[in-house]
Amino acid sequence: MCFAGVEPIILRDPPTIMSAPIPPASVSPVPTPPRLRGVPADARRGIVIGASSGIGAALVRQLASEGYRVAALARRAEQLDELATACADDAARTGGRVITRPHDVLDTAEIPALFEELVRELGGLDLVIFAAGIMPTRGPEEYDTESDLAMIQVNLAGCIAWCNPVANYFRTQRRGTLVGISSVAGDRGRKANPVYGTTKAGMNHYLEALRNRLGESGVHVCTIKPGFIDTAMTKDLESTPFMISAEKAAASILSAARGRVNTRYVARIWFWVMTVIRCIPSFIFRKLNI
Ligand SMILES: NC(=O)c1ccc[n+]([C@@H]2O[C@H](COP(=O)([O-])OP(=O)(O)OC[C@H]3O[C@@H](n4cnc5c(N)ncnc54)[C@H](OP(=O)(O)O)[C@@H]3O)[C@@H](O)[C@H]2O)c1
Repeated sequence: MCFAGVEPIILRDPPTIMSAPIPPASVSPVPTPPRLRGVPADARRGIVIGASSGIGAALVRQLASEGYRVAALARRAEQLDELATACADDAARTGGRVITRPHDVLDTAEIPALFEELVRELGGLDLVIFAAGIMPTRGPEEYDTESDLAMIQVNLAGCIAWCNPVANYFRTQRRGTLVGISSVAGDRGRKANPVYGTTKAGMNHYLEALRNRLGESGVHVCTIKPGFIDTAMTKDLESTPFMISAEKAAASILSAARGRVNTRYVARIWFWVMTVIRCIPSFIFRKLNI
């Protein structure tokens, strides 16, 4: 079934699934988590941008517990260090590792060199997740250019500045998965926060174009559209229907990435909610406070 403007969800086997390496007899075997059975240890290297809290931090925790070597990036170094410490036991048990780098995505000039450095330190790269984002609240009569442009810089320009070197690297090695955390807010022009929605609509368009561009190289690009996730970003919102935890969101995001899903609504009920919302005619939609 295909709805106007919505890409159907396509599931295919990830290319990285192979036979699991047999651990040496002398070493007590580390149990491979069931959802990762078959993913070779040397294909578990990832970067999460926007990892100091919320969804990004939950993704790092989950990847570390699955034996990934993962680089966690964001501006708040202290939160990143706490995250790495919290992951240390799990990572040691599974053979994973968390490295951290304070980084502001507004500093686009530093990205190419930082990216190269991280790939070297991780020993290669299989997965990149762009989770950095801001959503300053807007009053109904508030129009603030400075704040709007900052949102575009972080949410959209930051995403593009990271995806470019990643796309080029994955294209060259002819594999890899790139995940962008967009939002249901990009599906329609809601009155509540016009520019936040615009940055997410821009991400949706950009990620779809990258997916089409990189598909022939065997590289997958996955667009994630969360509804409400229980993080700092939503703590002051009055109404948060179908809210799920960051942990649940992270599990769904990683399963979508591994399943080579094109677009995944998180939680999945948002696929149906947004299918209905997209069908509401403009003259009715403008009267609604959604
Ligand atoms: N929570 C939801 O309901 C929801 C719904 C739809 C979409 N999303 C999207 O999900 C993503 C993650 O949000 P969240 O809910 O997990 O909120 P969050 O807890 O506020 O996380 C946002 C992350 O982005 C990072 N970030 C912000 N500005 C940055 C910058 N200039 N440079 C580098 N990193 C930066 C933050 O780290 P620092 O502050 O340390 O830099 C933090 O790690 C965002 O893109 C958001 O738009 C969230």
